[in-house]
Amino acid sequence: MTNVGQTEVRVGYQSTTPQQVVRPIKFAHIVLRTRQYREMVDWWCAFLGGSVRHGNDFLSFLSYDDEHHRIAIVGLPHLVEPVKDSVGLEHFAFTFATLDDLFAKYEQMKAMGCSPYWTINHGMTLSAYYRDPDGNQVETQVDSMSPDEADAFMQSDLFAANPIGINVDFDRLLERRRQGVSEAELLDYATASQQ
Ligand SMILES: [Fe+2]
Repeated sequence: MTNVGQTEVRVGYQSTTPQQVVRPIKFAHIVLRTRQYREMVDWWCAFLGGSVRHGNDFLSFLSYDDEHHRIAIVGLPHLVEPVKDSVGLEHFAFTFATLDDLFAKYEQMKAMGCSPYWTINHGMTLSAYYRDPDGNQVETQVDSMSPDEADAFMQSDLFAANPIGINVDFDRLLERRRQGVSEAELLDYATASQQ
């Protein structure tokens, strides 16, 4: 049966019509290739709070959620350094359940000697961006808005005037959170420049 957004029982394969756009059911995984195989596997296991579900001396499948492997690492010694300013992947992002979880990840990464290179309130998310040992850019975020609220925000003059966001200091936000300031207040975009 083909996933065309509705339940259909078919006997055998039948081609879809041009109107029946077939969608994937989810985003499954990313495979990163590296020359620093062990460093990358260790970093990603720590970052994800995950483990190697299956691995050998050049290929590891990492598991941390309901997917068999969301990240895999392949070690290939002959790889060359990436070309600076080349086209391709900018970053990919992981959403945390709460701001406190995002802060906990921030503290854990910092204890590993890995601080974010950018911390910003994007309006619809509060985000911290990290680089893995190879320099791949990874965003950690917590949603501040529902998708509909984010749509409205992105159509606002506020967003048009600054589509990137407002840089924030995670240590300062974390300290205020420790003092009892609510998650909602710390996520608030309108007051982010004064946080
Ligand atoms: Fe992003």
